[in-house]
Amino acid sequence: MAYISNETINEIRNKTDIVDVVSKYVNLTKKGKNYIGVCPFHDDHSPSMSVSPEKQIYTCFSCGATGNVFTFVADFEKISFVQAVSLLGERVGINISGNIKADTKKDDYFDIYEYASKFYQNSLFTSLGKNAIAYLEGRNIDKETIKKFGIGLSIQKVSLTEYLKNKKYSLEKLIDVGLTNENGNDIFINRIMFPIYDLSGNPVAFSGRIYNTKDTSKYINSKETDKFKKGKILYNYHIAKEHLKKNDTIIIMEGQMDVIRASTVGINNCIATMGTALTKDHKNIIKNMADNIILCFDGDKAGEKATVAAIELLEDTGQNIKVVRLPNNMDPDEYIIKEGKDAFLNQIKFATNLVDYKIELLKQNRDLTDIKDISSYVNSVLKELSSEKDDIVVELNLKKIADNFNIDYDVLKNKYQSLKNNKKILPKEVKPKKVYDKYSMAENRLIYYMLKDEKVINMVENRVGYFPTQSIRELSNEIIYYFHKFGIVPVADFISFIADREELLKTLKDILAMDISENFQIEEIEDYIFVINEYHKEMKIAKLNKEIKEEKDPLKQAKLASEIMKLRGGIRNDIRN
Ligand code: UTP
Ligand code: MN
Repeated sequence: MAYISNETINEIRNKTDIVDVVSKYVNLTKKGKNYIGVCPFHDDHSPSMSVSPEKQIYTCFSCGATGNVFTFVADFEKISFVQAVSLLGERVGINISGNIKADTKKDDYFDIYEYASKFYQNSLFTSLGKNAIAYLEGRNIDKETIKKFGIGLSIQKVSLTEYLKNKKYSLEKLIDVGLTNENGNDIFINRIMFPIYDLSGNPVAFSGRIYNTKDTSKYINSKETDKFKKGKILYNYHIAKEHLKKNDTIIIMEGQMDVIRASTVGINNCIATMGTALTKDHKNIIKNMADNIILCFDGDKAGEKATVAAIELLEDTGQNIKVVRLPNNMDPDEYIIKEGKDAFLNQIKFATNLVDYKIELLKQNRDLTDIKDISSYVNSVLKELSSEKDDIVVELNLKKIADNFNIDYDVLKNKYQSLKNNKKILPKEVKPKKVYDKYSMAENRLIYYMLKDEKVINMVENRVGYFPTQSIRELSNEIIYYFHKFGIVPVADFISFIADREELLKTLKDILAMDISENFQIEEIEDYIFVINEYHKEMKIAKLNKEIKEEKDPLKQAKLASEIMKLRGGIRNDIRN
């Protein structure tokens, strides 16, 4: 790990509240002393992650993810621990980039994109940008919107590459981050430039649109890099996220222009997939954004396909999904321009709920005057309804079908009921709880309580000879070391301290995620210490017992038995300790 002093790391952590930071990524609800939310580190939709303001750590009771604010940000953003410290350091005004030694060479990526983004924005407002401005105005994009989304312009005559080279960035680096081609020329030429931001709001790529030329590709995007992966980024995420506190619905669109247009009429809770299919990574981001999702893809056939695929992907997140299908192949941008803000707001307000949409889809490619098609349609609808939770929705739909196709209601209801019964889901598979032997249990608890009370640290230091498990042994040594150095061992800081030692961190995380009572009695600690100290003796006895079983000679057997007796006697003497 790059060298940043523990004091600095702890200072940043002390100035940072884990609840503040985690709630930027996950919706948290207060429950007792702690906050709970849906864990972003495994595929889930019920809240199983708890964040403790008191201990400043988070713990997921389902997947066992746990750690402090740095490990949270590092794991969520897929950055290193040091980068997470640096990121959170900036937030509280502690700049540690100077402290990071050459082994994690400071990444210029964000700086370069920041410069590039400013450069393009400036270019738009030069005399060479007149046509581009006219194009944007023609599309009803005003200056305020241009500023809000950082829209800019790449110009053939004005080289971004030269500009950045003058800022002392190497050509290799510029090629590497996707702004310059192998010939040393700008990638983007004569395009309207839309910066694409990562989840934290740093520009990490561009999408460039043609405006006064013909070109086979309407938009070109930066190549994928370690910081820009289309499948992991959602356009406008960082802005939408800020608006979601008041507005618990996220609207998913296809294009950046759709999102930008929506914002011009005051709708800010939109994100865009930028033309790609939604991925599992998108899903993990979206499921933590809001309780309600509205899919508002383009009104054309491709948009319908995208809608169906998105439903399939998102259906099990537990979020309430609704669908808007815009008429006449329009995309949200065109619809708002043509029909106006209120019409669009109505589309959103009266978005179709999921079952209704799916039932509507089932009509496709079926001739609903043909008896065979009607039968297959009705059966498909009943099947769909059998997994619907809302009884009223079911009832309404059964009545509707009964009326529309002149089918006896009871026949439908019976069929529905039998489908539903067949579906009665087997009880959810419960993960078997890991069984720990008494030694592991004692080891784990001792570590757990060492981090709770320094009395236990003292007891372990003075009385435990040797932990049987190596990682526990090391962990205990580190806790004792940390205690001597700093006088206290706040668990959140201790996590930082061992963050670069994967094995140790994993052991600690496992222990923190265990269901161990917060309170303990000193006698309990005495028992654990006793158990640990008996480990080697018990092992010897077990070995002797095995030998006895294998031994044929009764004399030798007796000798082994007496050895065991001796050891057992020893145990009894030790109890008094
Ligand atoms: P669309 O073709 O629907 O573009 O592609 P749009 O949003 O309507 O854009 P305008 O209104 O013509 O300006 C949807 C998204 O797919 C990506 C872009 O991110 C676009 O916003 N796309 C589209 C590309 O990456 N390349 C392309 O050539 C076209
Ligand atoms: Mn469009």
